[in-house]
Amino acid sequence: MARVKICPWWLAYGFDNRLRRIFQKPERILAPYVKEGMTVLDLGCGMGFFTIAMAKMINIQAEGEHLGSQAEGEHLGSQEEGEHLGSQEEGEHLGSQEEGEHLGSPVRGRGKVIAVDLQERMLDQMKRRAKKQGVLGRIQPVLCQPDDILVKEKVDFALAMWMLHEVGEPENFLKQVRDCLKPEARFLIVEPKHHVKLEQFQKLIALAEQVGLKRIETPQIRLSRAALLGLAA
Ligand SMILES: C[S@@+](CC[C@H](N)C(=O)[O-])C[C@H]1O[C@@H](n2cnc3c(N)ncnc32)[C@H](O)[C@@H]1O
Repeated sequence: MARVKICPWWLAYGFDNRLRRIFQKPERILAPYVKEGMTVLDLGCGMGFFTIAMAKMINIQAEGEHLGSQAEGEHLGSQEEGEHLGSQEEGEHLGSQEEGEHLGSPVRGRGKVIAVDLQERMLDQMKRRAKKQGVLGRIQPVLCQPDDILVKEKVDFALAMWMLHEVGEPENFLKQVRDCLKPEARFLIVEPKHHVKLEQFQKLIALAEQVGLKRIETPQIRLSRAALLGLAA
């Protein structure tokens, strides 16, 4: 296995915090791909910045219902963390049933996020934050192995956010992700520009293409290089 540097859990506080929303709004980035009722995979979920947003997007409650229950002592968005679901003002939306109908197999009120990480401390923090936001019940945490994502379920969407450069055996990893994708599923790879040079990114995407994925789009995501992939025919 190639030697790679895994982001230490304590460093994640440096980028997974309320300031990150200034330059990365998960709902806006993911709105074209993540719809109600979907099963989605967050690879290298870290402390859950994208996991929690996706857990909200895949299970929007009917009007008048509340996310999280008082009984559980959970609530949406805490003043403490200053996080919220995005607002109309910001031009964001969480997708609608109508929009979601052609993508995957959305079922109103259902959906799940499979959140995979190598580090237990990342998962623990993700769970703590998800509980606070009232969405822990929609998240399946998976403590994976460096060479095995330990997911066999088919998903509608997979995200590898700022993590692929940390994977020791990217070819093996990409094959495992490919095998989890439903025929129409999308796989979004996003790498940080400051860590991953264009050439390195292109090599990773070429590797993805070698294992049977194809590039569909090149989304523009701040501070990042990104590629949207699907299964090659
Ligand atoms: C830089 S952090 C990004 C976390 C999160 N995706 C985000 O954007 O906030 C990279 C994460 O990937 C995880 N990771 C690294 N290699 C991995 C692997 N082979 N399988 C699963 N997770 C991995 C690390 O433990 C770390 O939590």
